[in-house]
Amino acid sequence: MSEDGRIAILVGSQGRGSNMRALAEACARGDVPASVALVVSPREATGAVETARKLGLAVAVLPYKDPAYEERLVSLLHETGVQWVCLAGTMRLLPSQVLAAYPDRVLNIHPALLPKFGGKGMYGHHVHEAVLAAGETESGCTVHRVNERYDEGEIVLQLRCPVLPDDTPETLAARVLALEHQAYAQALALEIQRRNGG
Ligand code: GRF
Repeated sequence: MSEDGRIAILVGSQGRGSNMRALAEACARGDVPASVALVVSPREATGAVETARKLGLAVAVLPYKDPAYEERLVSLLHETGVQWVCLAGTMRLLPSQVLAAYPDRVLNIHPALLPKFGGKGMYGHHVHEAVLAAGETESGCTVHRVNERYDEGEIVLQLRCPVLPDDTPETLAARVLALEHQAYAQALALEIQRRNGG
């Protein structure tokens, strides 16, 4: 049976929300056979939440310190009829209950070519600084399935860009971010197509 995807996007406590926006826009254009059913944020006061509300997306605020965080998150996802979970800017490992409820249906995006430059502490500017320090001539982004370990799940899609001689962490981050916005939608479309036997 063919299915479209109802997705939840989990944003982080510093949520800027640009990947969330790109995914929502790709769904609205019909580039991905999915719709954003829910955005989950640990805080109200983030750019991601503001953008989500402007886009008319349903938002749930669920603080990480909530003692029933795991149970509440799984209930929210089930109540909303979510089929796919997309992490976009969260820096915590996903609770095991969510992984158990959504086997092979949780995706994350990382701003480097995994398996290089991944793992705990490798986020934001740290990633791009490490890429430059290593003298890489190429970087990019990776969309991968999520498991219990940071950045180690099966890779779904990577997009690449050059590292230029005069790059700073900021210029490299901007080049990679533009790729991220294409990659997440492409990867989700691929995963939904695979699930439908395509
Ligand atoms: C992105 O660089 C993504 O790769 C990483 O967190 C950042 C989130 O950015 N996982 P944004 O909030 O989507 O703009």
